[in-house]
Amino acid sequence: MKKIILTGDRPTGRLHVGHYVGSLKRRVDLQNSGEFDSIYIMIADAQALTDNFDNPEKVRKNISQVLLDYLSCGLDPEKSTILVQSYIPELTELTFYYSNLVTVSRLKRNPTVKSEIAMRGFNSSIPVGFFTYPISQTADITAFKATTVPVGEDQLPMLEQAREIVRSFNSIYGETLVEPKEMLPDNQACNRLPGIDGKAKMSKSLGNCIYLSDDPDDIRKKVMSMYTDPNHIKIEDPGNLEGNTVFIYLDAFCKDEHFLRYLPEYANLDELKGHYTKGGLGDVKVKKFLYSVLMEELEPIQKRRAQLEKDVPSLMEQLKEGTEKAREVAAQTLSEVKHSMKIDYFE
Ligand code: TRP
Repeated sequence: MKKIILTGDRPTGRLHVGHYVGSLKRRVDLQNSGEFDSIYIMIADAQALTDNFDNPEKVRKNISQVLLDYLSCGLDPEKSTILVQSYIPELTELTFYYSNLVTVSRLKRNPTVKSEIAMRGFNSSIPVGFFTYPISQTADITAFKATTVPVGEDQLPMLEQAREIVRSFNSIYGETLVEPKEMLPDNQACNRLPGIDGKAKMSKSLGNCIYLSDDPDDIRKKVMSMYTDPNHIKIEDPGNLEGNTVFIYLDAFCKDEHFLRYLPEYANLDELKGHYTKGGLGDVKVKKFLYSVLMEELEPIQKRRAQLEKDVPSLMEQLKEGTEKAREVAAQTLSEVKHSMKIDYFE
């Protein structure tokens, strides 16, 4: 069986370092590994509209922002097909047929939907489009016969639901769709990078993100203001690593060789942590180190972005081409789906 990747992002803002360690970086590695037959990266604008339907301008303007983030991180349109969801109407048609296979109570139980409803304060006025987006996401995944979906932990219930729909479809209409499997980050810190305030997740509305395209000065300020251990007041005080944002970021970003370059008095992160918990190591020193580590990773990305920003129209042209190519694949799957469903009256 072919090995096919599909994953995507909602274009509701520029991408941040949480996206980067949780998924983007992995995608680039997978792309360059040559182990996959096809890779599809979707800008999920239709999904973004399910909870931003009253703000289409926000979605519109972030299409090129997300595209710039993708390309500056190293996604290569020659190797990965980058596409925009709304320009593939076949996905909507698949969603319509899959809707028959899902109950309202099953959607209500989906933990991701549940927590997003609570977060957005929808309560009893849940838009149908938002409520059913797991079905549409299943269409995204299955249209390209994806076997592998690189995502963060928060998307696990989506993948579970997608597999249920696939099994149900195949058992009713005959073997047609491919069951997808998630691929999670192998590093726990990467799975759930908190915001700089230590809050569970980076989110634009909380204002606690470090964006890939942030100005280095802003990144320095953000790092210096990061939440650490509130009881670590004097340098001599023993520090706590639990929930300590700076150390969680180091877990996600730091490699041994960074110490050689920026903090040679320690051999590795374990030694640094040891000193911190024992007492005698100040937050400022650790934060400065984190800033250097972060910038080493972000600088080449930012340089590439500056270059790419000079000609956005040609990038949009590439996106259009990717979308057209992807549409052909989705159309092929839709025709197989309809054939399995015996919708072939005029053939
Ligand atoms: N729901 C995903 C998120 O919020 C984005 C997404 C849309 C996606 N379609 C997808 C992820 C298909 C994986 C596969 O991050």
